[in-house]
Amino acid sequence: MANIKFFKEENLPLEFHKVRIVQKLHLLPIEKRLEAIKQAGNNTFLLRNIDVYLDMLTDSGTNAMSDRQLSAMMIADDSYAGSETYYRLERKALEFFNKKYFIPAHQGRACEHILARTLVKPGDVVPMNYHFTTTKTHISLMGGRVEELYTAEAVKTTSDVLFKGNMDLDKLETMLKGKEHIPFVRIEMGTNLIGGQPVSLENVEAVSKLCKKYNTLLMIDASLLTDNVYFNKVREEKCKDMSIQEIVHALSNCADIIYFSARKLGSAKGGGIVVNDKNLFDQMKVLIPIYEGFLTYGGMSTREMEAVTIGLEEALDMDMISHGPEFIEEFGRLLQGYGIPIVTPTGGLGLHLNAKEFVGHIPADQYQSASLVAAIYLVTGCRGMERGTLSEERNPDGSEHIAECELVRLALPRRVFTLSQIRFVADRLAWLYENRHLIGGLRFVEEPEVMRFFIGRLEPVSDWQEQLMKKFKEDFGESL
Ligand code: F0G
Repeated sequence: MANIKFFKEENLPLEFHKVRIVQKLHLLPIEKRLEAIKQAGNNTFLLRNIDVYLDMLTDSGTNAMSDRQLSAMMIADDSYAGSETYYRLERKALEFFNKKYFIPAHQGRACEHILARTLVKPGDVVPMNYHFTTTKTHISLMGGRVEELYTAEAVKTTSDVLFKGNMDLDKLETMLKGKEHIPFVRIEMGTNLIGGQPVSLENVEAVSKLCKKYNTLLMIDASLLTDNVYFNKVREEKCKDMSIQEIVHALSNCADIIYFSARKLGSAKGGGIVVNDKNLFDQMKVLIPIYEGFLTYGGMSTREMEAVTIGLEEALDMDMISHGPEFIEEFGRLLQGYGIPIVTPTGGLGLHLNAKEFVGHIPADQYQSASLVAAIYLVTGCRGMERGTLSEERNPDGSEHIAECELVRLALPRRVFTLSQIRFVADRLAWLYENRHLIGGLRFVEEPEVMRFFIGRLEPVSDWQEQLMKKFKEDFGESL
């Protein structure tokens, strides 16, 4: 993000960190990759990492850590109750979000569990800009229902709208005026399932105003806050002259409840909830010793808590938070150069391929995104994540709920990969796109009832993977 002009090069995303610890990687021959993906039931969650070249599954718990985070881990105060480490984290989280009370939890979905258990009753409806898988599951398990109030633009994969994560204000007001009980409204920053798309500060302010008017709580999921805030800073006129901390405060001041996965925000492992309301805090805090651990660690190790504290501090550094979105933009530029359909504008978290177009010849009920993600592993050795129909739950009558967006996410954990690695993936994707007619569908052989995408197993509907490997070998010879 620093203002750097190049002489001959196009603008490049220039790193403001250097690599000091590395991990050796392997790229297996394609025959071994075929074996590995078959053993994993064609589900990239079930691959062993040793069989993966670039792990682009997620940014959750996989961001590179800084020297400051690592050194802070060495001074962790290991005690079950009253650890100084905990108080440092509590102080930092409250300062970061400008709130009064902090509740620790072991990760984002644990916060969602505590929040749903406290606030959601059977028959409740929770409006949100877009659902996230674990969020929706926790609300459903408490007998509630999610209502997504996105704008038409949100699910258009090709767009030039800069804040596709925004909530539709008219739909929200209609719902708030209605008769259904709404325990809270949820806004997800850096909207994950539509391609890491941001929400504008202006939209959050308008939602907050409506929530106040109708006396409803506003909850922000800040797991992907850093990407969102980067886009607020560079895409939103009213944020141009604000510091990152000022933008974070402007957003968090709109919310009654904020929670986050520190596996993303904080670049370590953990999570937490912040609120101003003492009554709400008291209701939630009694659940922590039951489900998470004592109140001064909430399931996190003291070392990780130290790392989160520094991670939150570093989340205010533009050099840090610009790295992901700028690399993703560059990745997108390369792919578009090869004519490959991607989600535009590029967002945070990762590069999102539009599987509906990439493999439009595969029937929708044969899991287009999952088929593409398996094919990508086969030809690149990199694992991405299915973000489409497979990540949905079936309709109550057992039929497939075909997802609005069929995406493949290639996550770029922050400060982990180099541009040459990204160029390698782009190059292989260009080959795969030319040979896309060879990619076929998948069907379930083991389908769990809840969140089936995590551990479900599938098989190809034909021998398409062998055919794809054959063509790969014709074109690339003995190359890995
Ligand atoms: N909210 C959002 C927006 C998320 O992206 C995630 C996790 C969670 C909540 C849950 O947090 O994993 O710490 O329990 N997203 C991961 C991903 C799993 O790969 O996108 P968690």
